[in-house]
Amino acid sequence: MITDVRDTAGMRECRLCGQPVREFFDFGRQPVSDAFRDPADRSAEFHYDLAVGVCGGCAMVQQSHEVPRTRMFHADYPYRSSGSAFMRDHFEAFARRLLETELAVHDPFVVEIGSNDGVMLRTIAGAGVRHLGVEPSGGAADTARACGVRVLTEFFQEDSARRIRAEDGPADVIYSANTVSHIARLDSVFRGVDALLAPDGLFVVEDRYLGDIVDSTAFDQIYDEHFYLFSVESVCTVSRRFGFELVDITRLPVHGGTIRFTIARAGARPVAPVVGELLTAEHARGLADHGTLDRFAVRTRQARADLVGLLRWLRDEGRVVVGYGATAKSATVTNFCGIGPDLVPYICDSTPAKHGKLAPGSGIPVRPPAAFADPYPDYALLFAWNHAEEIMAKEHGFAAAGGRWIRYVPRVHIV
Ligand code: TYD
Repeated sequence: MITDVRDTAGMRECRLCGQPVREFFDFGRQPVSDAFRDPADRSAEFHYDLAVGVCGGCAMVQQSHEVPRTRMFHADYPYRSSGSAFMRDHFEAFARRLLETELAVHDPFVVEIGSNDGVMLRTIAGAGVRHLGVEPSGGAADTARACGVRVLTEFFQEDSARRIRAEDGPADVIYSANTVSHIARLDSVFRGVDALLAPDGLFVVEDRYLGDIVDSTAFDQIYDEHFYLFSVESVCTVSRRFGFELVDITRLPVHGGTIRFTIARAGARPVAPVVGELLTAEHARGLADHGTLDRFAVRTRQARADLVGLLRWLRDEGRVVVGYGATAKSATVTNFCGIGPDLVPYICDSTPAKHGKLAPGSGIPVRPPAAFADPYPDYALLFAWNHAEEIMAKEHGFAAAGGRWIRYVPRVHIV
């Protein structure tokens, strides 16, 4: 199996350091993960080759091909960060902590890269603190504005950062959740942060952690938007390259395993012991080693075989399986596994902009959560597994009626 993966490997140059990148998995042709389609739309669907590799120089895991950013993030981008009560609480708690710590100075200023619907900044705005969201997805930005958040509808990059600095002055904090990994031009982000951040300011980045993805075989965390999968080593290295330093790390139980990386200008802040500890732990376990990533590839193929086998068997037994959560992640699952409406006739999801649309690539219809109980299916395939607790509590009637949840992370199982 491992040989099979190696056979398909190609060598490319790292987007950040120019060293060779060794591909360790190719998911084949994939659509844009959040491009839900109108059923009447007969135009050709955009596809690209979703493949990931690891850089031999800086250990950054990255995609081999890049989807143009305006294809992913535009006025109709449907994802809303405040779609989960758990995540709303998470962002509000972080905003309150910032207000009590880094922003407890004279006339503070905070910038958020990828502020989406303002789920974090609305607490900052409510406290009357100077802030600015930078969000290219117009619909999400409008929602944030309606909550009193100040937003620029554009991509964060070096020139926009310079403009913000000229107009608003230096930022005490630049924050970004689940966005920096989406930006292939990470060099431009760091140059922008360099231009905008105050000398003693903090650049705080929350993103999926490669270690958790590998440990739980969360292969569906790999899709167009997640151009990079961050590790402590790769973030340390890229920070250093641009004159910064990773000074603190917090592991967070959100989105199936996230790290909050706290980055400062080199030498500006003390480095917490946890940074060295996690770096040592990554080396000890060989997180970026070919063997580790090849074994992840093998487990991913096994997950596909197990999931498709289970769904086909249930269909042949006359059982109905419905999807829950039309996540971006589910685009990788359905398209990589070849799961269409014959196996999963529809997906229930709480996002109004996805209702009545077809999931990208698979063409599975998306319906509102009310359709779930009308009538309950026999099984529900939990695509939004990172929100499992919240969804299962909300849908407790399903299990009470005898329904069972199918999960595929960390392995295919029924609960
Ligand atoms: P999420 O897993 O946050 O991200 P991604 O799309 O990047 O993979 O997406 C969660 C999806 O699940 C989103 O479309 C909203 C939906 N959802 C529900 O339908 N019900 C819920 O209770 C929750 C929390 C989410």
